[in-house]
Order: sequence, then structure tokens, then C-alpha cells
Amino acid sequence: MIEQRELFVKQFNVSVVIDVLRATSTVITALSNGAKSIIPVSTVEQALDLKHRHPEYIIAGERGGEKIEGFQLGNSPTEYTEAVVRDKTIVLTTSNGTNAIIHASNLAERVLIASFLNLTTVVRELAGYDSSTNIVIVCAGNNGEISYEDTQVAGAIISKLIKERVHYLSDSSKIAMKLWDALKKPDFSGEHAKKLSQLGFDKDLELCQKVDYMPILAELMDCKIIKVE
Ligand code: MLT
Repeated sequence: MIEQRELFVKQFNVSVVIDVLRATSTVITALSNGAKSIIPVSTVEQALDLKHRHPEYIIAGERGGEKIEGFQLGNSPTEYTEAVVRDKTIVLTTSNGTNAIIHASNLAERVLIASFLNLTTVVRELAGYDSSTNIVIVCAGNNGEISYEDTQVAGAIISKLIKERVHYLSDSSKIAMKLWDALKKPDFSGEHAKKLSQLGFDKDLELCQKVDYMPILAELMDCKIIKVE
């Protein structure tokens, strides 16, 4: 059977996916704390189906920011401690972030996962490419709306990378870079950050803005996100 994603012509060499609040920060935290892999899926049904076939998997995710009923974990990176995730495979479904990862796999040959937590590690990896490499940054956003925080991480990557290799920047890349160059540090005052705070997730906000706190490289390979050594 031909998988759906093989029908797409991959236009880019590398994609970098960002959902800083919170899916990509959750993925980086889980892998940093020893999870074996993360399987991103779009729907609750897909997660339940995988759990049915692999009872040892942990099913995790959110809708409206809150843990999905019957799931073992939500989408708070602070839940993904070593005691909970070491050597585990986690099936994750979130409102925007996991769909962005799946979308990116249709666009590019390589999919890297970025957040503030692993910012410089991602930049170093991208800096290893020459200027003929096409890189796309996929910001998950919020239900079709731009995300202030995702744009900051994108801008930080571009701003650091431009000193190394970038020859062409799209307008959205220039906007993101100018935003970061003006801010110079994370500013979690966007709509989704406010909503997470109202839901009681202030500890997540604290963790997700720690730049380079978990310096790992994470990549989607064969539908699983793994830590690249
Ligand atoms: C998403 O995928 O939309 C987010 O990660 C939502 C969240 O903060 O849990």
C-alpha cells in the first residue's frame, strides 16, 4: 500500500516544526527524560487504536488544553518526568502541534522538532547544511491563527542561522527574525499563554521559556520522533 505521505512531492530538504506551547516542548522534555519515542497522531481514535494494538504504549494529549478523558498523560511537559516516561513509547495527539508535525513530514525529507528548550541544538544542526539546502519552518499556531510564541522561536532560529548560511528569506521569515531581534528573550504574553495560565498551567509556561535547557536533537523517523545522538 502506498502511504498518503508518499503521494506528496517533498519540496524542502528540511523542515523544523515549532509548537512551543506546548507540543514540541512536551516532545523535547519527554525525549530528554528518556522516552524511547513519540508517535504523533491527529485524532483521539488513532491514539486509542494504537493503544489497543500496543497496550504498553502511553497515550497522551490534549483538547482545549486539558488532558483527554481516559488518556494517561495530558500535554504538560512538566508531567513527562523520567519516572513516568523512561524507555516508553508515547502516542501524542494535540490540537495543533501533532498535526503540524505530520504536515511537515509531507513537505520535507527531514523533520526536526524545535522549542526554546533545544533552540541552539537545532540551529547547530541547520548550520551544518550548505546554502543550497531548502529549509521550511512550520509554526503550529493556534487553530489557524498565528502564534506569538511560535513566531519567536522561528525568529530566534533564523536570526542565529543568518550569520551562518541563509541566502534567501521569505517575508514571514523576515518578520519573525525582526520580532526576535527586537525581543531577544522569550515573551509569553500571547493569547495561548494567557489561556494556559487561566487553566492553571503556569509551571509549563515557566519551563517552556527556558532557552537551551534540554539541548537535544529530535527528529521524526518512520512516523516516530526520536532523540538523535
Ligand atoms: C496544540 O497542539 O495546540 C498545543 O500544544 C495545545 C496545548 O497547549 O496543549
